[in-house]
Formats: sequence, C-alpha cells, structure tokens
Amino acid sequence: MKEELNILIQAQYPLIYLVTSEEERAEQAISTIAQTSKPQRRVYVWTVTHGIVEYGQPRNVTQHNTVSPEAAIEWIIRQREPGIFILKDLHPFIDAPATTRSLRDAIAGFKNTQKSIILMSPMQQVPIELEKEVVVLDFPLPDMGDLNKVLSHHLDSYRGRRLPTDGREKLLRAALGLTKDEAEKVYRKAQVTSGRLTENEVDIVLSEKKQLIRRNGILEYIEEDATIDAVGGLEELKKWLKQRSNAFTERAREYGLPQPKGMLILGVPGCGKSLIAKTTSRLWGLPILRLDMGRVYDGSMVGRSEANLRNALKTAESISPAILFIDELDKSFAGSAGSGDSDGGTSSRIFGSFLTWMQEKKSPVFVMATANRVERLPGEFLRKGRFDEIFFVDLPTPEERQQIFNIHLSQRRGDISRFDLEQLSKMSEGFSGAEIEQAIVAAMYEAFAQDREFTQLDIIAAIKATLPLSRTMQEQVTALRDWARQRARPAAASVAEYQRMEF
Ligand SMILES: Nc1ncnc2c1ncn2[C@@H]1O[C@H](COP(=O)(O)OP(=O)(O)OP(=O)(O)O)[C@@H](O)[C@H]1O
Ligand SMILES: [Mg+2]
Repeated sequence: MKEELNILIQAQYPLIYLVTSEEERAEQAISTIAQTSKPQRRVYVWTVTHGIVEYGQPRNVTQHNTVSPEAAIEWIIRQREPGIFILKDLHPFIDAPATTRSLRDAIAGFKNTQKSIILMSPMQQVPIELEKEVVVLDFPLPDMGDLNKVLSHHLDSYRGRRLPTDGREKLLRAALGLTKDEAEKVYRKAQVTSGRLTENEVDIVLSEKKQLIRRNGILEYIEEDATIDAVGGLEELKKWLKQRSNAFTERAREYGLPQPKGMLILGVPGCGKSLIAKTTSRLWGLPILRLDMGRVYDGSMVGRSEANLRNALKTAESISPAILFIDELDKSFAGSAGSGDSDGGTSSRIFGSFLTWMQEKKSPVFVMATANRVERLPGEFLRKGRFDEIFFVDLPTPEERQQIFNIHLSQRRGDISRFDLEQLSKMSEGFSGAEIEQAIVAAMYEAFAQDREFTQLDIIAAIKATLPLSRTMQEQVTALRDWARQRARPAAASVAEYQRMEF
C-alpha cells in the first residue's frame, strides 16, 4: 500500500482518498514518502480546528485564515512548491457544493505542479462529481513489522526482558488485526495483569483482541469445540475440506498451489451447514470470524455501511490466514438483487463491494458461506470461479441418519449399545440432522419426567410425533433439490446414493 501511495504521488495524481482511522500512522507514512521523493515535498495537514499546519510543526503555527475548507483549498492552490496536502476533516463538508467545486478547481490546476491532495477519513464517501478524479486507497492495519516496533517500544519502556524470537512472534501474531493504539493498549493490559509480557501472556493478548473485535460489532470470533467428527455424513464435503487442511501453508505455496478462495454450502435447513463451517476452523487450525451482514447495514449516515464492511474485511485480512464465515448469505444479500432501491441502493453497493473484494483479494481469507434460499441469492455468487466449490447439503441418506443418531446418542450416553440405530434410521425417513437431534432430546425429556432412563421406544415415539420440515415444506425442499442437483456438488457420500433417494 505504501508503495502504491508512493507511486501515485510520484505520478502526480492530484487527488487521493485514504481510508483509515489511524491518522498518526498514516501521516508518518506520508511524511516518509514526501522526504524520499524527488523533488522532496513538504507536507501540510488541514484540520477543522487549526486550519493548515505544516507537518511536524507545533499546532499553533498555522497558516492564516485557513480554517474553512474553501479557504484552505484556496491556500493550497496558491502554493508554488511541490507539496502533499492532507485534508483530515473534510468528509463532513465534502457534499457541500462549494467544497466540491473548490476541490475540482484545485486539481484542475495541479497539472505539472507536483502537488497532491490527500483526503484522509475513516470512511469512504466520495461525491459523484469527484468520482472520476479520485483514487481511493485503504490504509492497511499494522503488519508484523509495524507491531514489532510497538512491542519493542513497549518492552523498552517497561525495561522488560529480551524475548526469545518464538515468543516475540507469537505476541506479534496475537495482535494482528488491531490498530497501533489498540495493540499498545493490549500489550499494556497484559503487562499490568501479570506483571510481565512474555510468551505466557499470549492468551491475555488474544482474549483482549477478541473483545476489541467484538466491540466493533460486525465481526465475531467463534469458538467451536466440536470437531469435524461431530458432523454425520457429508463425506464428499469432508474429504474436500480435509484435502485442503494445509492449503494455507508456505509449503503449499512453494508447491505451486493456488490459495483456496472460498466455498458456498447450499442446502436444506438443519442438515449441518453451519456446523460443518464452524468445525472447519479446528480442522484447518485457523481462526474463524463470523461476518454479521445484518450489522453491516447502518442507515444512520451515508457511507456508514460501506465503511463497516471495509473495516470488517480489513480486520479479517490482517488476521489472515483465517476463515470468514458468512452464515445465511441469502438473507444478507437478499435486497440487492431486485428491489434494492428502497434503501437508496445501499444493499446493492454493499453487495458490489463484497463481490469486488472476493474477486480481488490476495490475502489468505477463506470465505465460507451458507445459504438455503437459493432463489433469493444473487446470481453473481453462483457464477463459476467466484467460489472454489458450491456444495449442496441434502437431507441425510439412511446411512447418514444412522451416523447422526450415533453421534448425538454418544454425546449424551457412554454406552449406546441398547439402541438399534438401523431401526431409528428407517423410522426417521425425511428427517434432517437437527430434527434427529430434537427427537433424541424430546425422548430424554419424556423419560426424565417419568424419572427413568430413555429408551429406543421413547425415541421412536418422538420421531412419530414429529412432522419433519421436508414434509411440511415439501414444495420448497423439492424445488431446492431440483435446483441444486444441476448446479452444485453433492456433499454426501456418493452421487449414486444421492440420486437413489427420493420421497
Ligand atoms: N449432519 C449432521 N451431523 C450431526 N449433527 C447434525 C447434522 N446436521 C444437523 N445436525 C444437528 O443440528 C444442528 C443444527 O444444524 P445446523 O445449524 O448446522 O443446520 P443448518 O444446515 O445450518 O441449518 P439452517 O439452514 O437452518 O441454518 C446442529 O448443531 C447439529 O446438532
Ligand atoms: Mg445454519
């Protein structure tokens, strides 16, 4: 990114929009670029409180009469020397006609002047008049090198012991995804909590990070104890996932393998889509972050939703390699397909930015999305190449139902030899995994109320009392299966088995 910014400045791009909430770090980076560029450039910073101040100068050394945005831009136009002009607080004014006009006038006169204006803002909000003139850049969160400086500084100030390389790397990795200020706070907290900062404090740093990420409210760290063995059936899907266990390692890159991009799991409700997505985190040994699209949308301010999505994706990238889990993709992007105008086009813009991100992402963030209402899913998601694979999770086959009974009974009782799994499987034709689990739980309640152990017969009674979704919503389920058969890869054991099934 710094390289890109450098190139833009050398190439005399007149207007650059830098999205970041870390003003200090960004200013430092820009100042470094300014000093090393030829010819050297001076850096000026405009704020709505002080007007224009040269970077590095005390705040009271301001240029006269530059507090209003128009006056500041006028001043910039008058400058003859090469310079970089950072406008920090312009986004609240940017929609004002006078501001947009002055910006356009300014950059029109910038040709061959080696002057650039950088708009710095925590959110991207470019008025349509400027869209053609502006280049938008995301200022990335601190990388390992940046964090290393933070950590060294911290250790110096606490006169901490030198850390072994391993421990250092763990502490740095644990802070990935945080801003510089946040990393400082997290290290300080760990230090204060246990009186030192060593490899043993990694867990404190990690749990602080989880909290910080949770506080921003859009991404959520998921902790899932279940392993992939807690999922019954879905052999093809499991095989696919197991094959890719080491897909994000250096070794895989050296071997020449491309990085997996993501997968979409479609299917009947209650058949283990969310469960398998969550257990992949353990299988691959990568953190899993749930992106809550419902929380991305925020109508309180123009551009707010976009900023939310950007920040979330940026955080995920900085924590990568990681899994980004989007449950119920169909609900997240439902509005974007047709009647997206009701919210001023926000949902279709969000959808667009998300697709672009998926298309262009280079960082090892694996997108795992699930959906069950395919007709509500924008077609763009289903185009080849968007996801590495689209799997269809159908109702479990008889063998799969046996496995699911086995799993859920074993989770509850040590010895399950008294249950006839084959019979249970036969009786529960058309049941989803969730319904099988529910039947077991219902049987247990029944027996518990009578103060006895539950039996095969209790489960059978519960099964008989259940009307599965596949029957109550038969049309939807059939439509989904017909649809998926032609477009997605079956997640179950074998295609033949899958095609034999019908009801
Ligand atoms: N194949 C399975 N093996 C074991 N348990 C299962 C399976 N399928 C479903 N379950 C049980 O049902 C619960 C609900 O399943 P899950 O939330 O994964 O379904 P889903 O496919 O995501 O459904 P929805 O479309 O409604 O979100 C799981 O937590 C698990 O206990
Ligand atoms: Mg689900």
